[in-house]
Amino acid sequence: MRVVSGIQPTGNLHLGNYLGAIRRWVRMQHEMECLIFLADLHSLSEHIPAAERRRNVHEMAASLIACGIDPEIAVLYNQARIPAHAELCWLLNGTARMGWLNRMTQWKDKAGKNREGASVALFDYPVLQAADVLLYQATHVPVGEDQKQHLELARDIAQKFNTDYGVELFILPEPLIGETAARIMSLRDGNAKMSKSDPSDMSRVNLGDDSDTIAQKIRKAKTDPEPLPDNVDALAGRPEALNLVTIYAALTDRSSQSVLDDFAGKGFGAFKPALADLVVETLAPIRARLQDFDAHPEALEAILEKGSAKAAALAAPTLERAYRAMGLR
Ligand code: TYM
Repeated sequence: MRVVSGIQPTGNLHLGNYLGAIRRWVRMQHEMECLIFLADLHSLSEHIPAAERRRNVHEMAASLIACGIDPEIAVLYNQARIPAHAELCWLLNGTARMGWLNRMTQWKDKAGKNREGASVALFDYPVLQAADVLLYQATHVPVGEDQKQHLELARDIAQKFNTDYGVELFILPEPLIGETAARIMSLRDGNAKMSKSDPSDMSRVNLGDDSDTIAQKIRKAKTDPEPLPDNVDALAGRPEALNLVTIYAALTDRSSQSVLDDFAGKGFGAFKPALADLVVETLAPIRARLQDFDAHPEALEAILEKGSAKAAALAAPTLERAYRAMGLR
């Protein structure tokens, strides 16, 4: 088994990233080979000044380490240090179909009505994502629900490449979607996912938020006037209540039903402070480690350089085989 997964180094990490992906990487790194990377090439799909991009990469690397990714155990790197990502993306561009990419919901959401003005990188984004995992012969890719479609596309590209060139080169990667926290929703709207790009900061808990801010965000989270029910089915049609129960369950590694067993009949006046305490308790040590790292950008550079060298060596044979399969070498 080889696990590969990535995250865009744009702005702050939030609780959705943490529960949907990062915490699972932290656990998996002790059980199997894990390659975790910062998708800085993906960040080209939107214009960001160079200094900001550089800072984002450092901040995200520091955040992942603060969350518990151990660069001595997992391979931690950023895409841009390994030319093979961009190279394989280009090779796979011959295999991916316009129609497949046109169906991607992330493309439709992000380009919106302004498709003509969107960057080619935004459209091609899923092909680079396919290259990210196929390059390493990843068997498993732990992600949140929102990335499932991109991974299905990676499988389609792998299969078509293998068939078109009559090779058994690429392994079809399996998306690993978590059970409880696959889709953490906005604190302001239970039907929208918690996201870095939501203009309202009150919609998400950032990993860098201090304890008072976290408590305030949870206290102000949108809910309904009903008390919590005694079974999960009764949360249907109450997306905000369901989301808060889901977060509580994920943080305590329990099922939503067992959380409801404790809180059935109680209102949010009782539930929200308990949830706020839990979130604060989980994030406080991460924030403390993050502050420690702020002072050492050169240590982060060294970590990424070392991780990239390991990853580049793992990527090289597959890239070479892809060139050969296509008659380019
Ligand atoms: P990104 O940076 O948007 O998110 C990183 C990870 O966090 C998960 N996630 C969530 N999980 C649950 N609830 C949420 N509200 C939530 N928001 C985000 C995402 O599903 C993801 O697992 N395209 C990817 C980065 C990427 C990648 C890859 C991932 C590039 N190449 C190859 C896997 C394999 C992205 O933008 O994730």
